[in-house]
Amino acid sequence: MGFNVAIDGPAGAGKSTIAKLVAKETGFIYVDTGAMYRALAVHFINEGLDGEDVSAIETACEGASVSIRYEDGIQKVFLNGKDVSTLIRQENVGNMASKSSTVPKVREKLLELQRNLAIKEDVIMDGRDIGTNILPQAEVKIYLTASVSTRAKRRFDELMEKGISCNYDEIYHDIEDRDFRDMNRETAPLKQAEDAILIDSSNLTIEEVVCEILKYIKKCRN
Ligand code: DC
Repeated sequence: MGFNVAIDGPAGAGKSTIAKLVAKETGFIYVDTGAMYRALAVHFINEGLDGEDVSAIETACEGASVSIRYEDGIQKVFLNGKDVSTLIRQENVGNMASKSSTVPKVREKLLELQRNLAIKEDVIMDGRDIGTNILPQAEVKIYLTASVSTRAKRRFDELMEKGISCNYDEIYHDIEDRDFRDMNRETAPLKQAEDAILIDSSNLTIEEVVCEILKYIKKCRN
């Protein structure tokens, strides 16, 4: 078993930014599990499915295969052999993933892929149920959060910087909806593992959060 670091938390808390930096410092492999749910969501969108139609999603699962490859240390995600790493970042894909990830069959499909990665390698894996469900034995567990307004502002700034027109209130409500779905679904809801450290990044810089996590990893490895 590799050394496992689990980072869970709501959308927009900065998990992937932080996890990538921690991975760089430690030499661990960064595993973005949200990308896997997003890849399946692309399949459901391509099939023209409604995110609430559980039985259609279950049936469509049969025709989808998700795989991960690392190119120059960067995770690439493939849907039925096609690289969808860029496509999965669209807002509609995130919204579908938030709905389709509530379906137990969708979660089952990705469970082994996630666990197998952590068996072979030292990983820092981010998601919603990593510390509670996927890697309950992880040596380090972090629950990274921030207020809804902080997360909405960060997302708004990010989109504006990319020249994508957007509306702050819409983003705010989107985040609230996503939090509700992620935290209240029946299977593996987002919650802080009992043995996870809580970090609220609302008033912290990226460097401060990274530093705190690195300190904790060091302590747990010694
Ligand atoms: O982290 P993200 O925004 O890329 O994730 C997209 C959606 O996938 C998110 O709304 C919930 C779901 N997800 C999940 O249920 N479990 C995970 N481990 C990762 C993501």
